[in-house]
Amino acid sequence: MNTIYLDHAATSPVAPEVIEALASTMADIHGNASSIHTDGRHARKVLDDARASLAKKINAKMTEIIFTSGGTEADNTAIFGTAYARKSEGKHIITTQIEHHAVLHSCEKLEREGFEVTYLPVDATGRVRIQDVQQALREDTILVTIMFGNNEVGTIQPIAEIGALLRDHPATFHTDAVQAFGLEAIDVQAMHIDLLSVSAHKMNGPKGIGFLYAKQDVKFASFMYGGSQEKKRRAGTENVPAAVAFAKAAELASEKATMRNEQYKQFKAILIEEFQVAEISFQVNGHPTETLSHVFNVTFPGTDVESFLINLDMAGVLVSSGSACTAGTIDPSHVLLAMFGNDAPELRSSIRFSFGLGLTDALAREAGKRTAEIVNRLVK
Ligand SMILES: Cc1ncc(COP(=O)(O)O)c(C=O)c1O
Repeated sequence: MNTIYLDHAATSPVAPEVIEALASTMADIHGNASSIHTDGRHARKVLDDARASLAKKINAKMTEIIFTSGGTEADNTAIFGTAYARKSEGKHIITTQIEHHAVLHSCEKLEREGFEVTYLPVDATGRVRIQDVQQALREDTILVTIMFGNNEVGTIQPIAEIGALLRDHPATFHTDAVQAFGLEAIDVQAMHIDLLSVSAHKMNGPKGIGFLYAKQDVKFASFMYGGSQEKKRRAGTENVPAAVAFAKAAELASEKATMRNEQYKQFKAILIEEFQVAEISFQVNGHPTETLSHVFNVTFPGTDVESFLINLDMAGVLVSSGSACTAGTIDPSHVLLAMFGNDAPELRSSIRFSFGLGLTDALAREAGKRTAEIVNRLVK
């Protein structure tokens, strides 16, 4: 039986054009971008071209892009970097209950070090309320870190409004845009974003590279120490082939964003249609309109997520119960918990379909049929 990959929010296949960019850069550019000889300067030029191209996608300056090993490192750098650089001004941080663990666990570590963290609640669609952000702000708030789009349910946060609110407050504004970059329009200047995290492997780039956008003059302490790469903000020899491949993936994503968003909406519609035709009971989670197009979280009442996932896998439907980092252990999702509360049936019976490269209408329909068949079998 063919497998149908519906877990693109966990990681996505690398586009052929990206593999080509990666391989040719690896073959042709071997210099260290910090060397001052010809080969080093060549590597530097290629690296900075990739940096400039990525910067343009979010309306940033090239010098504001710091390459990292991925989204986790970008989040850690933003959070610890801000906390340590600004701790003399205050020790209060605001975040939400539904952040990725790269943010939540960093905040929890800072709490153990004496910082105070406010974890804002969300409504049943997974959105924070602007007035909650406003009320939580204090004189000693040094950082507000709120994700752009949620990886489990897709809900997009009111980032521009939060940015506008923070114009009158000195707190640094960080957003984790790992799931949103490549599909959503992001303008760091218009949205007043100071720090922003991105990862290449979520949008058909290679694993192990991402970037942190850091607005010029924003205060943060380095997270990695060593050489003076990345203008002394992130030590370590730069991965030039991965940076070039990342920029290529971002180029493809921006060319195709409108088409992809339409296509992914259609995949959601197809799955819903198949569930309705099969007359199974289901509930779509997340915000009806303010949502990432590629994430589709659904509760199937009466199913148990562990056996459901195993059955789906055996039927060739590759999905996840939420964040890939917690899949395997399958703890109840902290995102669904924040949305629906303790003991809600959604916590035991929800799965995440996520769409991307290679998925077609026919495959989505087939996945919908196979899923519905399993639900019918499991809930009998
Ligand atoms: C919202 C979000 N933030 C951060 C990360 C971590 O990114 P990376 O896998 O590049 O470390 C992920 C990956 O699942 C994510 O979905």
